[in-house]
Amino acid sequence: MYMSTDEVRNAFLKFFESKGHQIVDSSSLVPHDDPTLLFTNAGMNQFKDCFLGLEKRNYTRATTAQRCVRAGGKHNDLENVGFTARHHTFFEMLGNFSFGDYFKEDAISFAWEFLTETLKLPKDRLLVTVYETDDEAFEIWNKQIGIPADRIVRIGDKKGGKPYESDNFWQMGDTGPCGPCTEIFYDHGEHIWGGRPGSPEEDGDRFIEIWNNVFMQFNRHADGTMEPLPKPSVDTGMGIERISAIMQGVHSNYEIDVFQRLIKAAADVIGYEDLSNQSLRVIADHIRSCSFLIVDGVMPSNEGRGYVLRRIIRRAVRHGNKLGAQGAFFYKLVGTLASVMGTAGEELKKQQAVVEKVLRIEEENFGRTLERGMTILTEALDNLGDEKVLDGETVFKLYDTYGFPADLTNDVAREREFAIDEEGFEKAMEAQRQRAREAGQFGTDYNAAIKVDTDTEFCGYISTEGSSSVAAMFVEGAEVEALSAGDKAIVVLEQTPFYAESGGQCGDAGVLKTAAGIFKVEDTQKLGNAIAHHGELVEGVLAKGDEVEAIVDAQRRTAISLNHSATHLLHAALRKVLGEHVTQKGSLVKPDSLRFDFSHLEAMTKAEIKEVERLVNAQIRTNHVIETNVMDIESAKAKGAMALFGEKYDDEVRVLSMGEFSTELCGGIHASNTGDIGLFKIISESGIAAGIRRIEAVTGEAALDAIETQASQYEDKLSDAASKAKSLEKEIQQLKDKLAAVESANIMGKVEEIAGTKVLVTALEGADSKNLRTMMDNAKNQMGSGIAFIANVADGKVGFIAGVTKDLTGKVKAGDLVKMVAEQVGGKGGGRPDMAQAGGSDVEALPEALKSIRSWLEERL
Ligand code: ALA
Repeated sequence: MYMSTDEVRNAFLKFFESKGHQIVDSSSLVPHDDPTLLFTNAGMNQFKDCFLGLEKRNYTRATTAQRCVRAGGKHNDLENVGFTARHHTFFEMLGNFSFGDYFKEDAISFAWEFLTETLKLPKDRLLVTVYETDDEAFEIWNKQIGIPADRIVRIGDKKGGKPYESDNFWQMGDTGPCGPCTEIFYDHGEHIWGGRPGSPEEDGDRFIEIWNNVFMQFNRHADGTMEPLPKPSVDTGMGIERISAIMQGVHSNYEIDVFQRLIKAAADVIGYEDLSNQSLRVIADHIRSCSFLIVDGVMPSNEGRGYVLRRIIRRAVRHGNKLGAQGAFFYKLVGTLASVMGTAGEELKKQQAVVEKVLRIEEENFGRTLERGMTILTEALDNLGDEKVLDGETVFKLYDTYGFPADLTNDVAREREFAIDEEGFEKAMEAQRQRAREAGQFGTDYNAAIKVDTDTEFCGYISTEGSSSVAAMFVEGAEVEALSAGDKAIVVLEQTPFYAESGGQCGDAGVLKTAAGIFKVEDTQKLGNAIAHHGELVEGVLAKGDEVEAIVDAQRRTAISLNHSATHLLHAALRKVLGEHVTQKGSLVKPDSLRFDFSHLEAMTKAEIKEVERLVNAQIRTNHVIETNVMDIESAKAKGAMALFGEKYDDEVRVLSMGEFSTELCGGIHASNTGDIGLFKIISESGIAAGIRRIEAVTGEAALDAIETQASQYEDKLSDAASKAKSLEKEIQQLKDKLAAVESANIMGKVEEIAGTKVLVTALEGADSKNLRTMMDNAKNQMGSGIAFIANVADGKVGFIAGVTKDLTGKVKAGDLVKMVAEQVGGKGGGRPDMAQAGGSDVEALPEALKSIRSWLEERL
């Protein structure tokens, strides 16, 4: 019976729904609130707290098709991709779960029913394993299901391993829920090499594990102790690709529908013909993990999850290059992927453009160094001769200069049956980290050499003042016994209220005072376990052992703490407004401003910025008490504290909470109430790298200043604009006057004579009506004796003026003339005998009216 992957997924969910299970959506590949886990690696991750009894849901049976990534971390398959028929960086795990509901018996019979009745797999192709001591599971398989004892294999702990280190004892990670399991295997047949589970040939591809049923019974703690769970539970996982392979009558996962279409698409975009090429498989696998990681908010970077993503992308790009790809090709597969994933591809469809962009940029950047790196690597391998191991320095150089992750170098080496010296690479990496740390901590190189034994005690959470004694002092990197005025130095105390820069919060400033001297502290930094006060002795002397009063600049400290608390509110608000993919990528909290870097693809819109400001300010006005609690990391996570991935936290952590709005792990210094922040204002939002945005913001008085500055900038702009408008108006008036003068000169050419009298009748277009009078005066002056009539059409209306020199007003009156014309153009008018003005709205009638003037005058002259 053939079934497509999409059909298998639906059949599974429906089957368990019919057995009373709630169908639950796949959770994100980035586990929520769990920095112990790199990526979601099993269906049970999202239910971890249900197994532990920490979370209650309104169902006790659930079923999911969970997207998983196993690349890096405890379950890592990256290196095997392309080399076996069944390993993937990304896969979907079908699972059914019982939270203290059914246990071994039902789990086993559900699994058997689904495989043999719904999917109709032949029973004789199936065999199972149980944990060595799990007689109960053995009996269920043997007596109730009827599997012969020789098809049930007991698997114990690994030889030389720790207790419970076994293929049949499943653990999510080093801590968390775990238990013995029973696995179901499918025999693909004699023609494929491989042995039964537990045999020396078990790693072959003949017997493939298809379904793991875990009987969750314990919570494993960091020290290895196993605490029984409140209620025994069930967690199962079946890789959809493996079961689809069986349903589609193929052996390799790469031959199923989903992969075939991806492989074909990859071959097309690269322009490569042989579809059986291993590299095409690698690319088809990697486009899945990379795309879905980006969908779930991971961005390529140089650390943590982002670095794993970068490694996978680069590995794919290298394989494409191997097949002769010209230019970026990988991102072109996203569309095909979105369509082959069926119901699991819906979110990817929505985010397709973004995913393509991130991949394309990453691909293009790496493309620039790929070729040069490959030349160096190939030469290095050529020169190895009989030695089968590539030295760590070369691996490091490829990493550092050409962006080759070590596993990529390993991948290339492995194809030629070489290995890499991982230890040597790690050593070179560590040396570089050390150099970076030293360079980052001190402005000048000589400070890098400072070694200090003191373990300075920090006492500055509550108070900003304290007394202590000088433990050590350094000038230009060399230890000194005493300082004299003018010396720039580093002073280390036994105990200090000065906060040394860490977690993004800048170091304190202030003074160290003795009876004999004043040391001005400009900055405070960590120096091993010591706290180093950087500054200058401005007065007197200071000697090792002296008792000092350490006084932090309290105003500056307060400003810093307000900004730090505001940073937490900002972080939480961004996640609310932009989404849960927003994670902190860096921060810098200073007295005058704060800076926060976070993952997000596009520039924020004005509306989003406003919304974030509004949310933060609302939390400020709510005036939450800012609570600090020290607790163990487990409890902190249970409380939902946001932790930074890759950050190593002690067992005891400080948890900062501001109402329900924000809970974060943080060692920094904060305000006592959110209300102290006063006001929050974002002053800029910009992009600093692909997928990383930066916000700069200010609080309190600085925020008020920013708003006032902005307002007065607007005012200035407004009054600038107003005075500009005024001077433009003036200029226009001057131009109009000039134009009027020119026009009056022109119209004089139109003077004619009627019965020996000079007469001027003319019509203008668009002239300024204010100028008509001036023009009329000019005309009368120039004629000396005569009659003039000037009409002007502007703004859909007609205006006109008539003038008669004094000597002629006995015969012709300007007022009468105007009246006569006005009546024809739909207006009224009249006026003095020598000068009269009027208008009308019937522009069309003007030409006729002008003609009538002549006969009207002839009658009177
Ligand atoms: N959590 C189990 C596994 O991943 C089902 O194999």
